[in-house]
Amino acid sequence: MTQKILVLPGDGIGPEITAQASRVLAACQARGLDVEVEEGLLGGSAYDVHGEPLPAETLEKAKAARGILLGAVGGPRWDKIEDLAKRPEKGLLGVRKQLGLFGNLRPAMTYPQLAEASSLKPELVAGLDIMIVRELTGGIYFGQPRGIEERDGQRVGFNTYVYSESEIERIGRVAFEMAQKRNKTLCSVDKANVLEVTILWREVMERLAPEYPDVELSHMYVDNAAMQLVRAPKQFDVVVTGNMFGDILSDAAAMLTGSIGMLPSASLNESGQGMYEPCHGSAPDIAGQNVANPLATILSVAMMLRYSLDEPALAERIEAAVGKVLDDGLRTADIASDGTRTVSTSEMGDAVLAAFEAL
Ligand code: IPM
Ligand code: MG
Repeated sequence: MTQKILVLPGDGIGPEITAQASRVLAACQARGLDVEVEEGLLGGSAYDVHGEPLPAETLEKAKAARGILLGAVGGPRWDKIEDLAKRPEKGLLGVRKQLGLFGNLRPAMTYPQLAEASSLKPELVAGLDIMIVRELTGGIYFGQPRGIEERDGQRVGFNTYVYSESEIERIGRVAFEMAQKRNKTLCSVDKANVLEVTILWREVMERLAPEYPDVELSHMYVDNAAMQLVRAPKQFDVVVTGNMFGDILSDAAAMLTGSIGMLPSASLNESGQGMYEPCHGSAPDIAGQNVANPLATILSVAMMLRYSLDEPALAERIEAAVGKVLDDGLRTADIASDGTRTVSTSEMGDAVLAAFEAL
């Protein structure tokens, strides 16, 4: 059956990087991938046309798609929108929530070719391969009540950090299963020394552990986890955590690898429907200049093939093509170093396509 794919270029560098990823997707179609690809508006670009960051039409298309490829949303142009609900970021959060994409997989992997690009010593990051499993549709991002209101003559801002047992359990299962497929260690990150919600989080993780006897479960407070990530990151394999801690730790983990421009991500629901996006943002400062790194978005296509379309061979082919291009010394500006050749966004796309075809 032909599956639907929705491409949401978004804002900033989004259109440039998704253009290159779409070419790679088209190359997969030429090799028999049976998908129908359409485009939609999300974020600031949707706000400009429809007055809202997640138009009904985009949501409809997203619901019908097996896989969604997103560039990035947001930028200073829209930061002035007073109504938070109309900000570009709300479009992204809306798709996550409406499609129930609770399981966010954020791999942080060092490419041997890029170990020098990390801000940490090469020996600390060489061979690094962490999978952060972040809960994506709950926690403090979505908890009610929330708001800013007047109390005793001054304004007070408040949010609610809330997780139910079932929400913790389903992300826990994703993480334990991921650990089973990898090195069989799982570190659950919480703040159980202070926050009740994460005391429950820890309890639920402990309760699940006997069902996965081959996985060694450990726990770490989030402040320590942040420190350990920059001190000795290779101690981690699979990390599971809530929405906000995962947001923060995944950016830190990404930077260990040399460039956030290299890292893809997947956000999945229970039926395997997923949204795939680079971990980096919309980089408005370099938008429209054909210099952004399209590799994270191209690698997001590989994740889509693996997790939503059950096409692991094509996924591996894309990953191998990216590896080949790096071996050949081609770099976009963000990952350039001595002795490499700096190429544009579209030249990087050309090179990956050529490598993909040649494999
Ligand atoms: C991310 C981003 C988003 C988040 C923003 C854009 C809403 O930082 O995907 O990590 O906080 O989840
Ligand atoms: Mg983030």
